Amino acid sequence: MAPYRIAVIPGDGIGLPVTEAALEVAQKALPGKLETTTFPWSCDHYLQTGRMMPEDGIETLRGFDAVFLGAVGWPKKVPDAVSLHGLLLPIRKAFVQYANIRPHRLLPGVEGPLRKSGFDILCIRENTEGEYSGAGGRVHQGTPNEVAVETAIFTRAGVERILRFGFEQARKRSGRLASVTKSNAQKHSMVFWDEVTRELASEYPDVSVTQYHIDAIAARMVMAPESLDVIVASNLFGDILTDLGAAIQGGLGFAASANINPGRTAPSMFEPVHGSAPDIAHLGIANPLAAIWSAAMMLQHFGESEAANRILEAMEETTGAGIGTVPGRDRTEQITARVLAALD
Ligand code: NAD
Ligand code: IPM
Ligand code: MN
Repeated sequence: MAPYRIAVIPGDGIGLPVTEAALEVAQKALPGKLETTTFPWSCDHYLQTGRMMPEDGIETLRGFDAVFLGAVGWPKKVPDAVSLHGLLLPIRKAFVQYANIRPHRLLPGVEGPLRKSGFDILCIRENTEGEYSGAGGRVHQGTPNEVAVETAIFTRAGVERILRFGFEQARKRSGRLASVTKSNAQKHSMVFWDEVTRELASEYPDVSVTQYHIDAIAARMVMAPESLDVIVASNLFGDILTDLGAAIQGGLGFAASANINPGRTAPSMFEPVHGSAPDIAHLGIANPLAAIWSAAMMLQHFGESEAANRILEAMEETTGAGIGTVPGRDRTEQITARVLAALD
């Protein structure tokens, strides 16, 4: 069979070392079956060329089976609103990667800040519209009359497809779905979100759906994370909840994510939840496990379940042996080497 073709965008900061680690592990788990092409698109690339990616960047990526991305952003050199809107966010939208899947559970040996271990959460984040639609503008800039408008856009097609994806995932797991809302304050978009949730619920009688306000579920994720299973949330709510999910699983160095195009009409993209971590970028201590886990999700997406599971087992063996469990203690190469050894 022809190898899977992967477009690799290491990006900025710790995106580079964690991407290298993740691909080394993936290559070892699936020898000879991954063909990678690396693109230097990043903030440095922006400073050199005036663009985060070339004008035809999206068309270039379209020919691949998947995109693997490290992290984008280096706010001291390029404003985040420029770098992220020039690379990461357009890929999610152009490739209709509407389901951003982010698992939150503790790996063996990792002691999260909660001192409790019995949770296994799958957060499904809407990834193409909502609060990230980019609709809006500014007028009277720099004057006392200045106005900034950022309009959240919720379409029936967009809301229905992500909620349906959430119901399907819940059906495959515990049968419990938590739908994240804020309809007590946002009387248009979130009331609409709740209505569509109720409409779909009648099609999934085997799934029990509970609506939680975003503020309440944030508290619940800390106080009783074991009471949650599949969570479905709008773009910004899901963004914030998944950094919280990362925190309870021991830190951002463990949080993986997959930006999925469920219809497979364009490549999906795999990346850790974390960013470029400028505060530690030159120290060699970035935890590569989030990126490695994301690579396992990529192999799973290709249907290579056996290789994906072997990576997860190798990660579990690594943290179970006490390697990579404490943020900032072990070196990136040391953690990677242990995962590679566990694959033998
Ligand atoms: P961040 O995720 O980069 O870092 C937050 C904190 O977590 C930092 O203290 C960092 O050291 C720590 N951390 C993150 N990943 C880690 C890892 N693998 N191992 C150990 N520690 C880790 O978030 P930020 O500081 O808000 O953002 C930095 C830049 O990254 C910004 O430009 C931001 O816009 C961008 N960003 C990009 C992505 C992405 O590309 N998907 C995601 C988040 C932030
Ligand atoms: C994430 C990141 C991005 C987001 C940023 C960098 C635009 O925080 O993937 O969680 O908000 O989606
Ligand atoms: Mn985020």
